[in-house]
Amino acid sequence: MKILVEKDYDMMSKAAGQIIKEEIAKKPNIVLGLATGSTPEGMYKELIRMHKEEELDFSKVVTFNLDEYVGLDGDHPNSYRYFMNDIFFNHININIKNTHVPNGKAEDLGQYCKTYDEIIQEAGGVDIQILGIGENGHVAFNEPDEALSVGTSIVKLTESTIQANSRFFDSIEDVPKTAITMGIGSILKAKKIILLANGKNKAKAIKELLKGDKVSTQMPASFLLLHPDVTIIVDEDAYKG
Ligand code: F6R
Repeated sequence: MKILVEKDYDMMSKAAGQIIKEEIAKKPNIVLGLATGSTPEGMYKELIRMHKEEELDFSKVVTFNLDEYVGLDGDHPNSYRYFMNDIFFNHININIKNTHVPNGKAEDLGQYCKTYDEIIQEAGGVDIQILGIGENGHVAFNEPDEALSVGTSIVKLTESTIQANSRFFDSIEDVPKTAITMGIGSILKAKKIILLANGKNKAKAIKELLKGDKVSTQMPASFLLLHPDVTIIVDEDAYKG
């Protein structure tokens, strides 16, 4: 596990954008695993800037997002599909057909989860997976629990995640209680993983992760310790607390 400590959020976002840019240069049809949330927004801005000012080309890039709320369709302003189109895909030259966000309105959700993992593998698997981390150590929507799903599955959100995500909704009652999420096993299949964290509220989770000696289902991010190519990029606040 490699750690890069950057001065602030801006530098963290630029460092992540730079890695992705270099990887796209090596493999123009790269498969990116993407996250939503506040953390990667700066990285998306940086990639948009690189597209506009440095001709970074997304025309052959394929993306798979980690998760989506159950019950929201892509037109809902709080859906992750809407978020991704709004803050990233609509501003670059990606073919929208090459972008995948789980369908929170799929009729048969159980079957849909299996299919999602299959289409990732059919696309050649994720080359670089971008992750954020929850204050409680969750990755994607894999919440601390007695057991964690291996593949993409439907999960119940914990109170702390509902609370944290309510900032995007009109009221906490509007936050969906379940989500589709790639599983820990789906995430660990990525060839390379970049985990981003900024702000003092992430310091406890980052400290726990950097101890590096134990995996626990109570700390889902700890499973990243089993992966051979993980880079954690943090700002000083997330590193020092
Ligand atoms: C989002 C996701 C979540 C977030 C995490 C941190 O696709 O997978 O696990 O990465 O909740 O969220 P922020 O970045 O808003 O602090």
